[in-house]
Amino acid sequence: QEQTLVLVKPDGVRRNLIGEVLARIERKGYVVTGLKLVQAERATLEQHYEEHVGKPFYEPLVEFMMSGPIVAARVEGNGVIEGFRSLAGATNPTSAAPGTIRGDLGRDWGAKVMENIVHGSDSVESAERELGIWFA
Ligand code: GTP
Ligand code: MG
Repeated sequence: QEQTLVLVKPDGVRRNLIGEVLARIERKGYVVTGLKLVQAERATLEQHYEEHVGKPFYEPLVEFMMSGPIVAARVEGNGVIEGFRSLAGATNPTSAAPGTIRGDLGRDWGAKVMENIVHGSDSVESAERELGIWFA
């Protein structure tokens, strides 16, 4: 079975959306096979976001991801990597389609970094790499 890494980011946890996100994943038919609430360490986030090193939003992004607890989930199912990205919607919650997690539940709060509730791996390679970081 294909696996992906889903994170409920600090904004999602603060807004009590853990259950809502997991419910959408489960209603779609995907299976949660690993789950934890963690305060992320900088070193973990630097590994997780290594592709974004040097971008203007990198440091605000790492700070934001350390601003409170996050939920890490390993989610399984055929096509789950693409399928969860589709459930999540576009990166920017302002333009994310209604019906998606970001489109239904997110908005622009004027923060330095885009607060968009969830993360989902974007390829088989990133899923394997990211699951190795969060579920070592
Ligand atoms: P993730 O599932 O979180 O990885 O989102 P994504 O794959 O849709 O976006 P990407 O990997 O490109 O960026 C990672 C995160 O950085 C995003 O989820 C946003 O929180 C933030 N981000 C990305 N692009 C921008 C940007 O142009 N400006 C700002 N302020 N933040 C950004
Ligand atoms: Mg990404």
